[in-house]
Amino acid sequence: MALPLPHLLWGNADCVELARTFGTPLYVMDESMIRARCAEVRSAFLEKWPATTACYASKAFLTKTMARMVCQEGLGLDVVSGGELHTALAADFPPSRIELHGNAKSERELRAALSAGVGRVIVDGVMELELLAALAAETGRKADILIRVAPGVNPHTHAHIVTGHTGSKFGLPIEGELLESAVKFALASPGLALKGFHFHIGSQIFENSSHVEAVGRIAALAARLKTRLGFEAEELNLGGGFGVGKLPDFSHSPHSPDKNVPSESHVPLHLFTDAMMEALTRECRARGLARPAVAIEPGRWIVAEAGITLYAVETIKRLPGVTYVGVDGGMPDNPRPSLYQAAYEGVVANKISAPAAEKATIAGKCCETGDILVESIALPPVERGDIVAIFNTGAYNFSMASNYNRLPRPAVVLVKDGRADVVVARQTHDDLLRGDAIPDRMR
Ligand SMILES: Cc1ncc(COP(=O)(O)O)c(C=O)c1O
Repeated sequence: MALPLPHLLWGNADCVELARTFGTPLYVMDESMIRARCAEVRSAFLEKWPATTACYASKAFLTKTMARMVCQEGLGLDVVSGGELHTALAADFPPSRIELHGNAKSERELRAALSAGVGRVIVDGVMELELLAALAAETGRKADILIRVAPGVNPHTHAHIVTGHTGSKFGLPIEGELLESAVKFALASPGLALKGFHFHIGSQIFENSSHVEAVGRIAALAARLKTRLGFEAEELNLGGGFGVGKLPDFSHSPHSPDKNVPSESHVPLHLFTDAMMEALTRECRARGLARPAVAIEPGRWIVAEAGITLYAVETIKRLPGVTYVGVDGGMPDNPRPSLYQAAYEGVVANKISAPAAEKATIAGKCCETGDILVESIALPPVERGDIVAIFNTGAYNFSMASNYNRLPRPAVVLVKDGRADVVVARQTHDDLLRGDAIPDRMR
């Protein structure tokens, strides 16, 4: 009698059991991996360099449980909308450790931030600066702010996730009058306390040279403003963008999954932070500036590898030159391949020790030719009902999900030591109809 094939374990939980219990598609997040990343932020950055803080960029993945974990791990939280702020506050996240971002913040969002007493508002432009100053005056509150700058660097990553180039929709150009007049305006506004500047140059960056270049430019800006306006920045926020490959590094998980699953070494945070901090220290010394306090905002780097998505195989189509494995999810739960050709790796969770038999393309179920989750990966013989696990889906998957083709959003399960807790319930078809109304005149 053939022995049953070993199953993929995630957070020591059997993925096939998870799929059976909670259904598919299913987002599965390994709590230990998330906490290990937060611990690395502390040891490699916060404890190594004085006067530093780190905010988790919650756009990567946010639920109330995630906010609770980030709080317990001692990090701050970067939110970018009223909805993210509401989620953080609903999880009792301390407002003083929250920073509000956004290139098109609404008055309502700014009011909510002021009334919650968030730690920082990262102001993106002149109109927002004027509005925030007026709201602070009206409400009698004071806002601690940073001004976001576009440092004019072009990191090597997909064009859709570059953010700090000249002409970006984010921030104010680091050179020129606009920024200087914004600084003057902030300094003259009694309701605003300008603490310094922020940049975020883009996402999925694997080498530190662009971050270092941006640090040089922001140090030059600080020196220029000190000379011209007598303003000394107390704080610089150097953003996130630290890249993550296609496969998790299981050596960082205290609960390593099955050894048959390939592993990729993870990019250590210090590759970026040491280079930036050394450059900043050097630049400040050379320019006669005191080194400002420094914040970073990693998003993907903290959660991407902790997450996998489980899908059931619905259909297999062998055509000349290509085999499609059609699964029960796709671009609604992971829009990144179709948005910017993000590449993923996967395995068949119920056949992880079976040798690869053919190359196949994992296709989503949506009515879009571009709804392809993974192009051409080696898989064992695949059958209908198999469970496919796609790795490194912890960032920008759940948070970017949609209901395209009226597909309900998958549940999110948090796993630890073999235990699984649903932290976001699966949407039902009735959930899709919530708020959907036929006008009376059509009754
Ligand atoms: C202002 C800001 N900070 C941090 C991040 C996090 O980026 P990543 O997830 O690549 O670390 C983003 C992502 O868009 C961002 O816009």
